[in-house]
Amino acid sequence: MNTRRSLPLAAILVSIACTPFAQTPPPPPAPPSPAVPLTGLTSAELAAFRAGAAVFRQVETVDSGLGPIFNDSSCAACHNNPALGGASRRVVTRFGATTNGVFDPLTTRGGSLLQARAIDPAFHEVVPRNANTVAQRVTTPVFGAGLIEAIPDATLIAAAAAQTADGIHGHVSLLNDVTTGAQRVGRFGWKAQQATLLAFSADAFVNEMGITNRFFPEENAPNGNAALLARADQIQDPEDEVNAAGKGDVDRAADFMRLLAPPARRASSAATIAGERLFTSINCTACHTPSLTTGPSPVAALSNKTVPLYSDLLLHDMGALGDGIVQGTAGARDIRTAPLWGAGSRPVYLHDGRTPSLDAAIRAHAGEATAARTRYAQLPAASQQQLLAFLRSL
Ligand code: HEC
Ligand code: HEC
Repeated sequence: MNTRRSLPLAAILVSIACTPFAQTPPPPPAPPSPAVPLTGLTSAELAAFRAGAAVFRQVETVDSGLGPIFNDSSCAACHNNPALGGASRRVVTRFGATTNGVFDPLTTRGGSLLQARAIDPAFHEVVPRNANTVAQRVTTPVFGAGLIEAIPDATLIAAAAAQTADGIHGHVSLLNDVTTGAQRVGRFGWKAQQATLLAFSADAFVNEMGITNRFFPEENAPNGNAALLARADQIQDPEDEVNAAGKGDVDRAADFMRLLAPPARRASSAATIAGERLFTSINCTACHTPSLTTGPSPVAALSNKTVPLYSDLLLHDMGALGDGIVQGTAGARDIRTAPLWGAGSRPVYLHDGRTPSLDAAIRAHAGEATAARTRYAQLPAASQQQLLAFLRSL
């Protein structure tokens, strides 16, 4: 008998997930390239970028507040390809219970985000048995995130109201920003679930690493179990301390992402130019808007800039491609149009990272994108190759 089969897969997975975290976890893989700041930063902005990069790379430990439940111990552990702040194949799990089409994020059972690791096996979280909707979400890159942040809400609201061909109607993700309390238009994450980098940073610190901060001062209880949490939590909250100027690690990590350069576009060729024309003519641009413009910003390098992101940053009903998770005003089938800049250096595509193939990612489009996908499928193979060459050049 094959000895490897004698240990059930579930047991192996549980043993990996339950492994108590050592005081000094392994360092994240070194990104192959250094992080590049926006051009034209002042020396103070450059200093903030460098300080932020150090925080983004910093490995949290039990002593610095890691856990009790978490997904990894540094931002860089997941965001590292091909440079610090990039994407990776790492996925996180979302779950909930869908009954008669109504989604319940099971917040009292620790949903909708699973924390797959724990500092002690006793705190280990599992997907509850009544969760019938489970989805994976792959890590997205944060290159050029400051430019995306600086696009005015009004631009996205106007785009959502505009008439488009193919029956396409994106909608904005409306939310209350946790850092200001203001109603804002979300643009970060697969469900456009955050509007600002500071909010995403604070959310990631508490939900991916278990580091409480001034915006999220409470730890996540393992599967919602407050009694377990009471036993687990030894460190005074909020764990992210602020300095005399009121700045903590959540702010520094946000500075790094805000000042990080967008992906560098590769040289164009006859094929990429032809591919771009096809991309427009078959109406991929209805959602993948070639560029948007930032508003005024206190950072000159972010002020009134063209942002060639190839996304409208709106939520679209993607039909069968949807992930079943309702988050804020994003419905079960809604996904934010994935920005295509940097597409050539993404390891895997689509919200669950299901494929390393751009062609397969396009063919999986459904819902509002059905007409564009069908036109792509009907192109001669040579034209499809030109379109893919264009995407790889972004
Ligand atoms: C366990 C892996 C993991 C860790 C650790 C992690 N992230 Fe992420 N990050 C993800 C995934 C997965 C997504 C997509 C999540 C989604 O949309 O639901 C994401 C998305 C983001 C985005 C949105 C980018 C976009 O496309 O709009 C930002 C910003 C971000 N992370 C910042 C951070 C920061 C800052 C840290 C450290 C405090 C961090 N992340 C730690 C996995 C991780
Ligand atoms: C109705 C809006 C819409 C149209 C039209 C559309 N897309 Fe998309 N596209 C999306 C959304 C939303 C996603 C993210 C889907 C997901 O991850 O499940 C996406 C994802 C992608 C991705 C994967 C990017 C990544 O980072 O994972 C590629 C490549 C892509 N689209 C190319 C195209 C091409 C080429 C066309 C034209 C044939 C097209 N899209 C038409 C909305 C659209």
